[in-house]
Amino acid sequence: MQLAFITDLHIDKAYEFPFGIDTRKNFKRILNAIAKSPAEQLIIGGDLCYRSPEEEIYEWIFEELNSFGMPYHIIAGNHDDPVMMSKFGKFEALLSDGELFFAKKFKHYLALFLDTSKGEISKNQLNWLDRQVYQQDGPTVIFMHHPPLNANVPYMDEDLDHSFSGGEKVMNILSRSKSVIPIFTGHYHVEKTIVQENAMLFITPSCFFQIDAFSREFKVDHHRIGYRLIDLGVEDFKCSLHYIAGSRQMDK
Ligand SMILES: [Fe+2]
Repeated sequence: MQLAFITDLHIDKAYEFPFGIDTRKNFKRILNAIAKSPAEQLIIGGDLCYRSPEEEIYEWIFEELNSFGMPYHIIAGNHDDPVMMSKFGKFEALLSDGELFFAKKFKHYLALFLDTSKGEISKNQLNWLDRQVYQQDGPTVIFMHHPPLNANVPYMDEDLDHSFSGGEKVMNILSRSKSVIPIFTGHYHVEKTIVQENAMLFITPSCFFQIDAFSREFKVDHHRIGYRLIDLGVEDFKCSLHYIAGSRQMDK
């Protein structure tokens, strides 16, 4: 089973170019690249909207996704509203008390999609996660917007405006599992892999711009945009990162 994972689209309203970047063109470019890849399904890791959730933006994104035609699954980021997003994506049935968390089977893998959009995680969602992880025999894979660990990226690790307070609680649940659990996230706008006990955390770069992973201040590193291919095999899983050129309005 081959999946494409993209994240942090930060799409703005039509004819708006934040940081001089055409976020809508970036989204189309990344979908075109994925169409040529072996991916069978698409996962979007949150932050679909630029700064705040907007109906017009969700409407445009879902029109694009539906004409793209590949099955997709979406989680919410801190710049999303899971309820508004679910309404436009027509998956309101997945909501539970305003949170968008759900499970899917990808062959023998159990894929768990978490909602960290409020910067925290409810007791209800944690109980559900615990049950899902321990009631299952086969391998598990997690998709969530925020990394549940600090990633040695000073600007993001110290960004209290967009922080996630539930990482330790999620890690406590996962650490009791006997199997290795891959966790795929975004939010940081960098490429990173971190292994801690039985968790393998893969942070995927943004479809907007990447930030300097070593700077304490906000600093753009580069404007290439990336997607991750995830191959969930019978014996193991593999993943790889692929970059393409991003589009800046000034480059047109
Ligand atoms: Fe984010």
